Amino acid sequence: MPTIEFDGRKYHLAEQESVLDALLRNGIQAAHSCKAGSCGSCLMQATQGPVPIRAQAGLKDSWKTQGYFLSCVCRPEGDLSIGKVGADAQLGATITLLELLSPDVLRVRLRCDGRIDFRAGQYVTIVQEGGLARSYSIANLPDEGELELHVRKIAGGRMSGWLHKGAVVGDRVSVLGPSGECFYVPGTPDQPLLLAGTGTGLAPLYGILRDALRQGHRGPIHVFHGALHTGGLYLVDELRRLASLHSHVEYTPAVLNGEESDAVAVGSIDQVVLKRFPKLSGWRGYVCGDPTLVQMLKKKLFLCGMSSRDIYADAFVPAAQPS
Ligand SMILES: Cc1cc2nc3c(=O)[nH]c(=O)nc-3n(C[C@H](O)[C@H](O)[C@H](O)COP(=O)(O)OP(=O)(O)OC[C@H]3O[C@@H](n4cnc5c(N)ncnc54)[C@H](O)[C@@H]3O)c2cc1C
Ligand code: FES
Repeated sequence: MPTIEFDGRKYHLAEQESVLDALLRNGIQAAHSCKAGSCGSCLMQATQGPVPIRAQAGLKDSWKTQGYFLSCVCRPEGDLSIGKVGADAQLGATITLLELLSPDVLRVRLRCDGRIDFRAGQYVTIVQEGGLARSYSIANLPDEGELELHVRKIAGGRMSGWLHKGAVVGDRVSVLGPSGECFYVPGTPDQPLLLAGTGTGLAPLYGILRDALRQGHRGPIHVFHGALHTGGLYLVDELRRLASLHSHVEYTPAVLNGEESDAVAVGSIDQVVLKRFPKLSGWRGYVCGDPTLVQMLKKKLFLCGMSSRDIYADAFVPAAQPS
């Protein structure tokens, strides 16, 4: 079985064991969350030895050449020397704003110690001092100088609970990333865009919407935001303001439970989207939020004619829970 060398010590991998699991089994506090290759929080750097291709899937090229890899899906075939990631992938950051956008959604702003290049809609991983790591989508534009995240309160949630109840302005965290490919890509300014998500799936969509407008997108942009009930909708006035300023932007809030009105549609987000647009050939789609919803919407958009290469998705895969 291969070995991994970390911090001057060697560890043997069990059969089919990932690098992350081997580190955790040996009592090393390695940052992680989803354990499924989705969130980027377990990023590490190989200093010697071959990294399996799968462990670098989705990482940007500059990171691949530096040996960065996702330790939760890394099952090396040969011996590997590894270390924590460098300052080009992880920065210190200070919380500058904590503001409720709705009873359950907190706007968190972070100022990083150094420059962070990102695209609105990508995500970063927030790492607390003890190693707790969770990913959050970036809701703002790079030229605003800070990162804006929208964090939903989860009952019993360690990171979201801390941000909602324990954190104060001035607290320090580390920021890993950015990662992800769910962002506005210029080049087809007249293509109709569909932006759909539930809950804080709005965070990346709000960033993508503003980025598309800033980059002069001319085609129609339809934003659908779903929640269980009206109290779960947020940024409603801001999205209505953007729609009133830009005649090619349409905003449709939708709730699962409630009264149908001119202002709010009723139904599941997929029903509301597909009732309005049953044919989507030639469109580009962005779907974000709950993983089950994202999977289902991706499939339905495809079946309505959207090309799979025009569908960008960001699934908020929750952290793997200790077994
Ligand atoms: C790429 C990516 C982007 C993300 N972007 C965002 C974002 O912009 N905003 C945001 O709020 N979250 C986002 N998430 C989810 C986020 O990373 C955390 O999973 C979430 O905040 C819960 O973490 P926690 O530590 O508070 O809860 P944990 O301590 O991990 O979980 C506590 C309990 O809550 C359950 N739980 C966890 N998540 C949920 C859920 N969604 N619904 C119901 N129960 C749950 C767990 O199973 C567990 O029982 C994103 C995730 C990924 C992978
Ligand atoms: S990508 Fe490895 S823990 Fe999420």
